[in-house]
Parts: sequence; structure tokens; C-alpha cells
Amino acid sequence: MQALREVLIWLKRELEDIDPDSAYLETELLISYVLNKDRSFIYTVDFIEEEKIKEIKKLLDLRKKGIPINYILKKKFFYDYEFFTDTGVLIPRNETELLLDVVIDTIKSYSFEKIVDIGVGSGNLAVTLAKKVDKLTIYACDISPNALKIAKINAQKHGVIDRIKFFLGPYLYPITMRNLQFDLIISNPPYIASWEMPFLQKEVKREPWEALYGGWNGCVFYEDIFKELKKMDKGIFIFEISPFIYNDLVKLINKTFSKIEFYVYKDLSQKNRVIKLIW
Ligand SMILES: C[S@@+](CC[C@H](N)C(=O)[O-])C[C@H]1O[C@@H](n2cnc3c(N)ncnc32)[C@H](O)[C@@H]1O
Repeated sequence: MQALREVLIWLKRELEDIDPDSAYLETELLISYVLNKDRSFIYTVDFIEEEKIKEIKKLLDLRKKGIPINYILKKKFFYDYEFFTDTGVLIPRNETELLLDVVIDTIKSYSFEKIVDIGVGSGNLAVTLAKKVDKLTIYACDISPNALKIAKINAQKHGVIDRIKFFLGPYLYPITMRNLQFDLIISNPPYIASWEMPFLQKEVKREPWEALYGGWNGCVFYEDIFKELKKMDKGIFIFEISPFIYNDLVKLINKTFSKIEFYVYKDLSQKNRVIKLIW
């Protein structure tokens, strides 16, 4: 047995070498994970068993190797729900909650019933939408079988598997080839440009390449999907962007569409993060 207070101090110091900003949070998360208790509970415990300390050391080794905390804990909280996360799928990001806010407002104001989520990943957007909006059906597409597997686990976990239809395939093809009708398209696509890839944190480099890499300029996904959208008489597309590619994207939108309504939404850091196109 060892005093839990001592273990907390030691673990926080070790984690500070990896990332000082998240060390405090990660200390609490790892200890509560090993004790299988809430974070608040750990401050009510005086001692911790040697077995549990061994387990913490093993998890710390994984963190030192650059495994993201959410792959170790196998969960990430997003919007109002906890999502299962594992290697092979992008860990949901807090900034993506803005995309969800814009999408929910749009769905409610137009009373939409069917939407397409391109690049469903862990299912964080599709599952949250199914939970938040009654009677909504979501067509969820991804090119990654791993992502689809994890998205289905999350849909099952949150009791919305019957409201989400999953399709393997790129862009809108799985939907258009089946002649399925929909009201709205949403996406948080890969948008990291070539120049940015080497500068990613080593934890981010552990996430799937196809979820991150957006081609030489970060805009390849948007170039391809815009060509498809141009063929449709009308529609609404709401998507996340990287602030780094905002200027290039505006040029691309103006070049592709002759007439379009265009709205930009800023995240909490005042960076351009979400775009809504209506044509
Ligand atoms: C940035 S992740 C977003 C995942 C999740 N929607 C989220 O917000 O966290 C992008 C996802 O798009 C998928 N993807 C990449 N290119 C695609 C394409 N051309 N068509 C469909 N899905 C694609 C990736 O496999 C990945 O799961």
C-alpha cells in the first residue's frame, strides 16, 4: 500500500514531461480509470494497492510511447455523451461541437428528417444528432471499415442503432448509387495539408492517416465533394474546416459555385471553424 497523495504527485510530475497542459487532468483520469471510480472519488481515498500502482506504471509507459490518453482509456466525452474510442478512429475533438450546434439549429429550423454524415468516424456527430433530434434518420458514410465498426458500437451503446444507416464508401457515392433522398449533408473531413503533417503532435500521428490528411493543400476532400454538389439543383452542406485553409477554401467555393449563400462560424478561439453553404 502507498499513500494515494504521493502517487498523485509522482504521476503528475511524470505526465508533465509529456504535456504540462494536460498533466493534471490526465493524472486524475488515469488514477480514476485504474480504481474504476469517478474522478471526484479519488480524493476520498487514502491508500492505493501495489497492484494498482503497477497498472498505473504500465499505462504511463504507453503514454510515454505517445499513445493518446483516449486510446488508453478507450473513451472520450463529446457534447453530452461518452464515446468508445480505439486505434483506427479519430478521437472526437472539442472544437467539433460547434459543427454540431450549427447542424442542430439548421435541422430544427427547416424540420429536416434525413441527413448524410460523410466521414462518420467514431459516430460522435451521427449518434449525438440521433439522440438530440427526434425522428431524424442519418446516413453515415466512411471509407474506413474500422471507423464504421466503432461508430456502430457507439450507436448501439447509446440506443440509436436503428436510426443510423451505415455505408462503406467515399463521399456521397454510397447514397447516390442507392438513390436515397436526404435534406442536408454534413462532414468533418480530413483537412491537414502536407506542410502541416510533420508538425503534428506525436499523439496525433497515431490517429488514422485517412482521418487527417487532406492532400497537398488540405482541400482535396472539399474539391471533390464540391464537384458532386455542383451537379445537384439545390442543397445545404455544413462542414468543419481548419482555419489554416480558410482563404484557399473561399477561393475554391467562389471558383466552383456561381451563386451560393455562404456562412462562416467562429470557434471559441475566434478562428473560422465551420462553413454552411446553401445553393
Ligand atoms: C476528421 S475524421 C472525422 C470523424 C468524426 N466525424 C469526427 O467528427 O470526429 C474524418 C473521417 O472521414 C473519413 N474519410 C476520409 N476521406 C473520406 C471520403 N472521401 N469519404 C468518406 N469518408 C472519408 C475518415 O476515415 C475519417 O473517419
